[in-house]
Amino acid sequence: MENERIINSKLENKEEERLENSLRPTTLDEYIGQTKVKENMKIYIEAAKKRNEPLDHVLLYGPPGLGKTTLSNIISNEMNSNIKITSGPAIEKPGDLASILTNLSEFDVLFIDEIHRLSKTVEEILYPAMEDYTLDIVIGKGPSAKSIRLDLPKFTLIGATTKAGSLTTPLRDRFGIVHRLELYNITDLVTIVKRSSKILGINIDADAAKEIAGRSRGTPRIANRLLKRVRDYATVLGDGDITLKIAKHALNQLEIDEYGLDEIDRKILETMIVQYGGRAVGIEALAVSVGEEIDTIEDVYEPYLIQIGFIARTLRGRKVLPAAYRHLGYDLPEESGNLSGQISI
Ligand SMILES: Nc1ncnc2c1ncn2[C@@H]1O[C@H](COP(=O)(O)OP(=O)(O)O)[C@@H](O)[C@H]1O
Ligand SMILES: [Mg+2]
Repeated sequence: MENERIINSKLENKEEERLENSLRPTTLDEYIGQTKVKENMKIYIEAAKKRNEPLDHVLLYGPPGLGKTTLSNIISNEMNSNIKITSGPAIEKPGDLASILTNLSEFDVLFIDEIHRLSKTVEEILYPAMEDYTLDIVIGKGPSAKSIRLDLPKFTLIGATTKAGSLTTPLRDRFGIVHRLELYNITDLVTIVKRSSKILGINIDADAAKEIAGRSRGTPRIANRLLKRVRDYATVLGDGDITLKIAKHALNQLEIDEYGLDEIDRKILETMIVQYGGRAVGIEALAVSVGEEIDTIEDVYEPYLIQIGFIARTLRGRKVLPAAYRHLGYDLPEESGNLSGQISI
C-alpha cells in the first residue's frame, strides 16, 4: 500500500539506501538533535582517546529511522577507527561470529544491527569477547574435545536495536554505554529537511520545510522520504522549487495529515474508539483487529502515537486518549473523565 510505504520508517530498498548514505552526517557536530546522547558520546570518545583505550561497548535503541546506524558510523569516525557492519540475523552460527571477531583489528568498531536477533549460541560467544576480549573455541568432538582460549584485539561493539526489551539481561549488562534515541522535535526535523535539501540541491521555502517536518512523525528517515516525494510534485507541477503550497498539496495527495498520520494510524485509532469503545485493549487483539503485525504496531506506529498523546500504555493495555477523539472528529465517551488520569507505564 502506497502510504504504508511512506510512513513505515523501516528502510525500503537499495535506492533509498543510496539516498540515505548520501544524506548521512559523518561527524557528531553534523548530527542534528539528540543533544544528551551527543554530549555524553563526546565525553566518552574524548576520554577513550586520551587514555588510548577502545571506547566502551555501546548499545543504541529506539524506533527505526532515528539515526542508530548513522550514529554508529559517526562514533567509529570520531574514534578514527574502522567499522565492520553486520546484523543479528546475518550471523547464523557461532563460527560466523568467531571469524568476524578474529578478523578485527585493534580498536575496530563492530556494528551489529538488530542485535536482539542474535541466536543464543552466537550470543554466548559474545560474552567473553565483550568482557575480556577473548574467544573460547572448542576443538574436536566428544570426550577428546578441547577448549582453547584465543586473545582478541581490543574492539568496541556497537549494538543497535528497535527492541531493547528483547535483549537478554547478560547481553544488555555487558554494554557500558546504553542510549535510547528519542523521536525528534520539529525544530530539529526542520534543520534536517533543510540540510538534506541543500545536499540534494533543492530550493525549499522555510515554511515548506516546516510543513514536511511537522508531518514526519519525529523521524529523520521519514522527513527525507517525504522531502523526496514532495520534490517530485514540485518538479512536475512547478519549477522544482518547494513552496508551502506545493508541499501541502503533495502531502495531502499522499494522504498524510497534519500530524503525519496515515491510513494505518487512523485505522488503529478508529478501532480503539469504535470497536473497543475507548476501553483498554491488548496489543495482540489490536493487531488482529487492524490486520497488522504486532511488531509493526509496537515499533513503527505506537511510539509516535504515544509521543503526540493520542494513546497511552496502561497496566491493562493500550488506551486511546481524548486528543485522538478530537483529531478524528469523534465525541468523547461518557466515562472520558477518567481518561486523563491514566497511569502510564
Ligand atoms: N541526527 C541526525 N541528523 C541528520 N540526519 C539524520 C540524523 N539521524 C538520522 N538521520 C537521517 O535519517 C536516515 C536514517 O537514519 P539511520 O541511522 O539509518 O536510522 P536507524 O539506523 O535508526 O534506522 C539517515 O540516512 C540520515 O540521513
Ligand atoms: Mg539502521
